[in-house]
Amino acid sequence: MLRLFAKTMRLGATRPLSTSTVKMSDNLFVHRDTPEDNPSIPFEFTADNQKRAEAILNIYPEGHKRGAMIPLLDLAQRQHGWLPISAMHKVADILGLPHMRVYEVATFYTMFMRKPTGKYHIQVCTTTPCWLRGSDEVLECCKKNLGIGVGETTKDGKFTISEVECLGACVNAPMLAVNDDYYVSIRCKEDLSVADTEEILNSLKQGQQPRPGPRNGRFASEPVGQLTSLTEEPTGPGFGLQAGL
Ligand code: FES
Repeated sequence: MLRLFAKTMRLGATRPLSTSTVKMSDNLFVHRDTPEDNPSIPFEFTADNQKRAEAILNIYPEGHKRGAMIPLLDLAQRQHGWLPISAMHKVADILGLPHMRVYEVATFYTMFMRKPTGKYHIQVCTTTPCWLRGSDEVLECCKKNLGIGVGETTKDGKFTISEVECLGACVNAPMLAVNDDYYVSIRCKEDLSVADTEEILNSLKQGQQPRPGPRNGRFASEPVGQLTSLTEEPTGPGFGLQAGL
């Protein structure tokens, strides 16, 4: 065995240290200074957001102010459109924490966008329930309609596509989110899901706000037809208890 190893080394053969596949992500986890994202670009909260930041900080008792980190990062992202490193430094300074503590949080949660993001952030869920209900067609339609791939932004800076994990609306799958709004129950037959997605994207392109929520006539996440459970009259208090209680 030792001889074989020595021979391999002599021949200059390379042996990979790992055979795991490289996982790709559309999020940036390592900071590299760029012209639009480097520590020399100042970041300040606007006067209104400064008040909001103070209100957020007041929720947390003395000694636990670092609990405000995520709300403050979210506020910074909403102000700037994405989260530059200067905003992370600002939040660290407000909380009196080392910058590294903020980097750890901002790079862990995928909701923090670490690179310039379009005005409309299109997030297509492709986790199993959505996938079974046609999320592949929804994602393909977004890519074709906007002419960009996952993790890319249109040249006019209006749209960014992200492929995301479950957004908690599985009962209305398939779904996509545009910024804070959920567009769900995108009708699941192939042609209809594409038509729904195109309608949403085309409305946004024209500056309109398509109505969020289910696209199949549901109000929320109730059954499409009639109730299939909890159909009897609810039992009164004490139901099922022993008589002596
Ligand atoms: S799997 Fe898509 S929202 Fe849960």
